[in-house]
This record gives sequence, C-alpha cells and structure tokens, in this order.
Amino acid sequence: MAELQEVQITEEKPLLPGQTPEVAKEAELAARILLDQGQTHSVETPYGPITFTVYGTPKPKRPAILTYHDVGLNYKSCFQPLFQFADMQEIIQNFVRVHVDAPGMEEGAPVFPLGYQYPSLDQLADMIPCILQYLNFFTIIGVGVGAGAYVLSRYALTHPDTVEGLVLINIDPNAKGWMDWAAHKLTGLTSSIPEMILGHLFSQEELSGNSELIQKYRNIITHAPNLENIELYWNSYNNRRDLNFERGSDITLKCPVMLVVGDQAPHEDAVVECNSKLDPTQTSFLKPGKLTEAFKYFLQGMGYMASSCMTRLSRSRTASLTSAASLDGNRSRSRTLSQSSESGPLPSGPPGHTMEVSC
Ligand code: BEZ
Repeated sequence: MAELQEVQITEEKPLLPGQTPEVAKEAELAARILLDQGQTHSVETPYGPITFTVYGTPKPKRPAILTYHDVGLNYKSCFQPLFQFADMQEIIQNFVRVHVDAPGMEEGAPVFPLGYQYPSLDQLADMIPCILQYLNFFTIIGVGVGAGAYVLSRYALTHPDTVEGLVLINIDPNAKGWMDWAAHKLTGLTSSIPEMILGHLFSQEELSGNSELIQKYRNIITHAPNLENIELYWNSYNNRRDLNFERGSDITLKCPVMLVVGDQAPHEDAVVECNSKLDPTQTSFLKPGKLTEAFKYFLQGMGYMASSCMTRLSRSRTASLTSAASLDGNRSRSRTLSQSSESGPLPSGPPGHTMEVSC
C-alpha cells in the first residue's frame, strides 16, 4: 500500500504582481515543457541499432511509459501532441517516458542502403529488451499506435511479466488476407506510398476534407528525407503475421489493456487514431481530453493515480465502471475496468482486463 500513497509537496512560490495562480501554473507548465528536451540514446540490438528518447526521471517502483509510433511518423510527430497536452502533465509527471523511434525513423536518420533487410514487426518487438536492459527498467506501460501498437502487443505476448499495461490505439492484430493484398496491390497501381500511408493514418472523410492538418501530414510524409526508410517500415507492417489473440488461450494479453478506436458515428468524426497526431489546441477537431481522461482511469485502475487527481467527472464514472478493488487503490490485475464501446472488432483479452475507448 505504501507505494500507492501520493504525497503532494507544494512548493510555495510568490506570485508576480497582478499574476493569477492560473497564469502562474500555465507559465510553469510552459517552462517545464520547454526545459524538458528529452535525452536521445541509441543501443545495439541483434537487428541493428535502435534510437529512443527519454523524458522525466525514473520513479521508484513505477513502470516506465514506453511508446511506439505508427508508420509514416516518428515519436515526436506521433506522440508530442498528446504528451504535451496540458491535462496530460499531471499524469506523465509521475512516470519516466521512453519514446522509441523505429529504425530509420529518428530525426536525421540516413537512408538505408539498397537491399537493407528491415526488421519484421516481430523483430522490432525483440529489440525492446535491449532498451530496457540499457536503461535498467524492468516493467513498462506501453502506448502504441497502429504498427507500434502491434509491436508492443507482440512484445507483451513474449514478455508478459514486464508489461503492466497497454494502451493500443488503432491496432490491427491480423495479417493481411489475400483480399487485402489484392486491394493493396490495386491501390498501389494508382497511389503513391505517401498516399497509401495517409490512407492508413486517416479516414477517407478526413482525407477528402483535406484540412490543414491533413495537408501538414501529407507534406511531412511526401517530403520526408527518409521516405525510403518509411516504405521499409510500411512493408514490414503489411507483412505482419496474425497476433492470434484468443480469449482464454495462452496467446492473449495478460496485462490490463486500453483499446482506443475511432467511432464511426457521424457526430464523432474526430477519430481516435488521430488523437496522438493532432495539435491539441485544435480542440474542435481533436479530443485529447477524452483520451487523457480515459488514460487516467486506466492508470488509476492499476493503482498508479491517486483518486485526488481525477476530475469530479472521472471519479463518478470510475465509481460506476470499476470494481471495489481498483477504487481502494489496490493494484490488481483481475478487476473490471470498463466496457463502453460499440466499435468494430478488436482483439480481446480475458474478460475483465480490457477497456475499450471510443473517441
Ligand atoms: C514527453 O514529455 O514524454 C514528450 C515530450 C515531447 C514529445 C513527446 C513526448
């Protein structure tokens, strides 16, 4: 229980004349974000070097949050909007964050030589232990988007004891079937690689809307100096094999999982797959608040967020959606988190482990 007691030490700082506490808090937050540039490291693995950036300082008895980005992005373009969202700060300040860049996706990465054998998604998952060993971290809470969600799931299947929880955004756990391959080949005849990747990252409605955000990402991907590398990651994603999750079998995620999916309802046109890629100031389009709040429930269910940190809304919803075990703060792996989505087919862990969020 000791580790669950959050001790809040409030530093008394005099306000500047005319400064409200809210303004002072915002200025402090901006300064903290500006100062925390992260530390980038690279380690050797059996499949080549891997680069990752660490923010925050390790917290005793707490897992690291480890992120893995989607195809066409790197850790910054994928996770910066979410992790620098104001409401996320009270969550992430309690954790060290390790943001992995898939090989060749880190800023300034040279283009791989012709004929370079890019790792499969399974091999990308096998690189993760080298990172944890280097940092001397034993357990993680994984946050992955698309291909990155697949990589973290594969890692969790092979190293279940080291994964305390997973947040999987837009995961597709299945290998491409022959119909998908035929469609993919046909699309490839008429579309460029950047357009195919944009079709993976965004919905058709969003792409045809061609908002500033879509233009921004189209520009980033089309003009990426490492486009050849991006194509290799894309090929590995398309060649993924089935994760073969099966409820009740050995091949399932043993940890609590928060699945995040886009909702097709017309009034819910900000699909969650974009949540981690959009500018949080564009709140009419994005709903990082919803994802942040869901993440808070999730961590609280695992015993890592004091209920004093929850909003009044979160607290009342949590009370109706979680079991007593999670409310009293005990870290338990067998409680129910919630069931809340009408969304499409998703990989399922055993009942009681999975939380679905539709944004
Ligand atoms: C973080 O604080 O974890 C973070 C900062 C910048 C980009 C992505 C993540």
